[in-house]
Amino acid sequence: MNTRTLKIRTKERSSEYVVEIGSGLLPETGSWLQSALGGRTRIAIVSNDTVFGLYGETVADSLEDSGFRTEVFLVPDGEEFKSLSNAEKALEFFSGARLTRNDCIVALGGGVVGDLAGFAASIYLRGVRFFNIPTTLLAMIDASIGGKTGVNTSFGKNLTGTFHQPSGVLTDVSTLETLDPRDFRAGLYEAVKQAAVSGGELLEDIRAFLNENADAGRAERLAELVFRQVSFKASIVEQDALESAERSDSRSRKVLNFGHTTAHALEKVTDYSYFNHGEAVGYGIIAASEISKRLEICPSDSIDLLNDVVRGVGVLPDASSISITDVLGAIERDKKASESSVQWILLEDIGRPVIVSASEIPPNVIRESLEHAISRRSNG
Ligand SMILES: NC(=O)c1ccc[n+]([C@@H]2O[C@H](COP(=O)([O-])OP(=O)(O)OC[C@H]3O[C@@H](n4cnc5c(N)ncnc54)[C@H](O)[C@@H]3O)[C@@H](O)[C@H]2O)c1
Ligand SMILES: [Zn+2]
Repeated sequence: MNTRTLKIRTKERSSEYVVEIGSGLLPETGSWLQSALGGRTRIAIVSNDTVFGLYGETVADSLEDSGFRTEVFLVPDGEEFKSLSNAEKALEFFSGARLTRNDCIVALGGGVVGDLAGFAASIYLRGVRFFNIPTTLLAMIDASIGGKTGVNTSFGKNLTGTFHQPSGVLTDVSTLETLDPRDFRAGLYEAVKQAAVSGGELLEDIRAFLNENADAGRAERLAELVFRQVSFKASIVEQDALESAERSDSRSRKVLNFGHTTAHALEKVTDYSYFNHGEAVGYGIIAASEISKRLEICPSDSIDLLNDVVRGVGVLPDASSISITDVLGAIERDKKASESSVQWILLEDIGRPVIVSASEIPPNVIRESLEHAISRRSNG
């Protein structure tokens, strides 16, 4: 398979970084980093037990073979370990390994590892380079690019973090073969989110992928899907890297939060232990679409199409016992400090997102749309 290459430039950074997407790339990690870094650099690999057990040796051997000295920092597997205390442990580890500003961090894993490693890299010695090797679909299409890093704290998920663009991303879709199907679906829900705000082509990619069940050519199709998703995210991030608070146009980075107003609230009211993030996004897509439909700003056949694709990804965990009042409370508390009112990303059509303040939406429309979304399973 050919490797697809994509360059991402942001106004805030003088340089650009390259995302390489292909299959069977991990054994090439050493030569990939050599071309990016030259030699003689030390590398701290940040990963978790699960991913490092599967792919750590391949990556570390490849780096050592290319002349890099590697150190390995592992965190336990789970969202709860994306914490300030683990970021501090990572910093202590880098310091103990005498990493200098010329050295770098490599994140090997899903979004949890990437967010934590990127955060630690952004504050260690006021910022060292970091490279992402995403191993979940969600991290490949979303978390590994765009430079948002962070940890969860007692006052909120992802509310503590930095913008620190990676210096390069190596995306090997063959690692998805070992991913739990539930985690794979989570990535697909996030892909549907991006398709909803980007337009028809990405939605078609996902539909085609879901409809073709043969294993033959799966890696190729996945690489193409990831490439197109990353291209779209890059096109948004390149012109609004810092998610500017003043912007509310259809190309604002905020539109990537489609479905996330509800998703974050659902995760919160279930203590982050019932849904995985992508599943909560699946519900969020249905809720935001329903609001758009009830406000009569979006054609209902577009909403039906979108719901069909969400349904096609798989059955979402039952949410019917969750209290809508709790969800509404969590939505209100989650709003960004810079905002006087919750902002909903809605659709005027697929590919035409619009940012609407909650104060402009009748409260019963929000409540009934949430009820509609969570009172039924996605296949119901
Ligand atoms: N920075 C961003 O822009 C951004 C965007 C979206 C999501 N996120 C964050 O990403 C996180 C979710 O990421 P995720 O869905 O990748 O979760 P995750 O990192 O927890 O990975 C999911 C599970 O898959 C396992 N795993 C990873 N790769 C594997 C592989 N190849 N084979 C087998 N198992 C593997 C992990 O160990 C974990 O158990 C959340 O914390 C979310 O806030 C960040
Ligand atoms: Zn998300």
